[in-house]
Amino acid sequence: MSISGLPPDEGRALRDALGDWATGVAVATTLDPAGQPVGMTVNSFAAVSLQPPLVLWSARHGVPPFDAFELADHFAIHVLSDRQQPLSDRFARVGGDKFAGLDWQPGHAGLPLLDGALARFQCRVAHRYPGGDHLILVGEVLDIARGAGAPLLFQGGAYRTLAR
Ligand SMILES: Cc1cc2nc3c(=O)[nH]c(=O)nc-3n(C[C@H](O)[C@H](O)[C@H](O)COP(=O)(O)O)c2cc1C
Repeated sequence: MSISGLPPDEGRALRDALGDWATGVAVATTLDPAGQPVGMTVNSFAAVSLQPPLVLWSARHGVPPFDAFELADHFAIHVLSDRQQPLSDRFARVGGDKFAGLDWQPGHAGLPLLDGALARFQCRVAHRYPGGDHLILVGEVLDIARGAGAPLLFQGGAYRTLAR
């Protein structure tokens, strides 16, 4: 794949450079049109606005959960703690039922909510913007929940944790 404005062989360089940006790790969830829970690991989550309360993340076109997120009116973002790396791995896996054997509770509009997150945001989709090979979803925060612990981080293509 070529990247507009950069020679095609710069894709790796772009990924590596973007990997210098240290982020948290989150799991985005929603319901598909059949009412089945879907989710994916994301590190594109960001704060947008306090008044009104808005957050964003971006979903890559073509991955199986994409269609559900593109159509969804609501999504939940679970900010993972450093004890939840297995959950990040589970939701970053390609294919399969990521919710198999996992406890979840229905939230706003039936949103699948997972336990143990450091912070959880239930959102109504406020805007959808094209973002190249991703779709940018901006959500109005309807509800917040907080847990305890330290964040799981991602940088340089690897999980990290805060130095104690
Ligand atoms: C740390 C990390 C961050 C990720 N961030 C994003 C993201 O922001 N947006 C995205 O579309 N995919 C992201 N992914 C990849 C998706 O999690 C992955 O493509 C998706 O879970 C695949 O879903 P599927 O198994 O249903 O195909 C990330 C993966 C990891 C490990």
